Order: sequence, then C-alpha cells, then structure tokens
Amino acid sequence: MLITNAPDIRSSEITPQGLYLRRREFISGAAAVAAGLALTGPFTGQADAQTAGPGKLARLATIKKSGYGAGEKLNSYDDITSYNNFYEFGTDKDEPAVQSRAFTTKPWKVTVEGLVNKPGDYDLDEFIKPFALEERIYRMRCVEAWSMVIPWVGIPLADIVKRLDPTPAAKFIEFYTLKDPTRMPGQRRNVLPWPYVEGLRLDEAMHPLAILAVGLYGEVLPNQNGAPLRLVVPWKYGFKGIKSIVKIRFVDKQPRNTWQDMAPNEYGFYANVNPSVDHPRWSQKSERRLGEFRPRPTEMFNGYGDQVASLYTGLNLRSNY
Ligand code: MTE
Repeated sequence: MLITNAPDIRSSEITPQGLYLRRREFISGAAAVAAGLALTGPFTGQADAQTAGPGKLARLATIKKSGYGAGEKLNSYDDITSYNNFYEFGTDKDEPAVQSRAFTTKPWKVTVEGLVNKPGDYDLDEFIKPFALEERIYRMRCVEAWSMVIPWVGIPLADIVKRLDPTPAAKFIEFYTLKDPTRMPGQRRNVLPWPYVEGLRLDEAMHPLAILAVGLYGEVLPNQNGAPLRLVVPWKYGFKGIKSIVKIRFVDKQPRNTWQDMAPNEYGFYANVNPSVDHPRWSQKSERRLGEFRPRPTEMFNGYGDQVASLYTGLNLRSNY
C-alpha cells in the first residue's frame, strides 16, 4: 500500500502494482491463447451457479444463500487467494499465500471488552455458534485501484453486536489483529505499527452489509485472506477489512486505525470508496478488476450507495476521507 516511514524496506523490494497486474495478465492471456480460448479472464462463472470452493480447505456446513451479488461474475479462488495485502505475512502481493502456510488458527480466542454488557474471552467456535452462516457475494475495492468480486461466507456484524449488547455510551468499535511475531513473520519488521487496528462507527457496524467473514467459496478462510475471522465492509476501501481478529472493543471515541497512523494525509477513518476524492498516489476514478483488461469506472460507495449513503448524510466526504 504505502511505504513511508519504513526504513527497513528498500523500494526495490516492492513490486509496482502496474507491473504485477501486467505480469498476471500476460500469464493468464498466454494460457488462454494456448488453450484456444477467448481472453475472458479467470472467472469461474455466474455467482449463483458456482460458489463451491476447490476443496482445499474444510467445507463450511449449512450456508444460507443470500441475494447479495447474485449474477456478479466471481473472481477465481486462485485470484482471491494469491493476490493479497496482509503485511503480517509480507509486503508483496504474492507473499501472504506463501508466508502464512504454517500459521495455525486453532485454538483461537476473541476478546470482547470496553463499553459492552457481555465482555469476555470467547473461544471462536463458541463465539460464532449462535449465528447462521450466510453467503455474501461482494465487490471489493482496494485503495490501490484494483478490485475483485468475492463470495464470502460470514455473519452479519449487526447480529454479533446485538448479542454482545453494547452499553448506550458505545459509539464506535475497534478491531485488533493478532500480535505474535513468532507466528506472523512480517511483524518482525517495522513496516507498520503492530498490531493492525481498525474501527467502525457503531451505526456502520450495524449496517446489514457489514459482516465478519469466516470463509470464502464455501470453505473456511485461507490464512492469507484473514483466517479465522475478518471484517468485510464492501462500500469501504479494502484496508478497513481487518484480518485475523483477536479483539473487539466498544469505545465512545473515534479510534485511530493503522493506515491513518502511518500516513494521516493519505488514509482517513471513513475510507468510503469515492471516485471523486483521489488518494495522493492513486486516482480513485477507475479500477482494474483482476482478470480484466479494461479499467472500469469506480462507483460511489463501491456501488452500494443506495444502501449506505444515508449513513453519511451531512458528513463532508472530502474532509472525512
Ligand atoms: N489486515 C491486516 N491485519 N493486515 C493487513 O496488512 N491489509 C488490508 C486488509 N486487511 C491488511 C488487513 C488491505 S490493504 C486489503 S486491500 C485487504 O485486507 C485485502 O484483503 P484480501 O487479501 O482478502 O483481498
């Protein structure tokens, strides 16, 4: 994403985004030509027909289908699991898949604390047991101007929040990633302040589109995508989607988030997808969907404006980027 204040990474270690995409396109294009196929990109087909995973990981039982994203063309399992941002496992897009191979996510505890009536240290299975798992096909847009369509499996965050029962004083939620440099090799370097932290306003967290994901393509989350539990908020830039969550804290003041701490002029708290507010280093007007050649225009709130715009009535979205 950004490497200012990161003295121990040389710029030569970072693959420029454009180069990486071109390399992928060349590879998938060449394979398609070899197979005598049209260059349609590595999609698996219609969302409602094919959301079964490749069987690499444990299959999740009884997933409720939801109407979200029906008819969207999905990115392939390979795209979603090989082109990742997860600095705890390396700063290059292809590193997390490799560096997270040995990461174990069992047992896993989620600590709930702060302004809430049901605080505690929950075992993950116990934490998610009361809830039905739903499939949610969402368009995901990274601030680096690439996008994907991902068939997540998760739980509406609102259901979890209601059960945890925040006190009336709670106005925001903070999420924390695991901090354990022995298990997350990227944390041995100073590229970000660890642990990774993110936050949402409580009403954003209660929005029906916000989920905590435990799987994709019908299987448990691969480590590189944030196993065993990560946040997904599809109307916001990808960096809000904090991975491998171990702590949820209910607070009364707007929390700081990791990228805002790194570069407050580049990353804000809200991070709503907004084509008319450019990032200093990436235009946000258009995006490259992985597997496609032609850029597509980026939509306000990533195309979810009819559902989420009312959360921001009266808020200046240029100063609250
Ligand atoms: N969460 C943690 N803990 N560490 C990270 O480096 N990267 C973020 C977000 N969550 C990140 C993280 C960024 S920049 C993006 S774009 C998304 O994860 C990428 O999610 P994906 O790899 O599942 O597509």
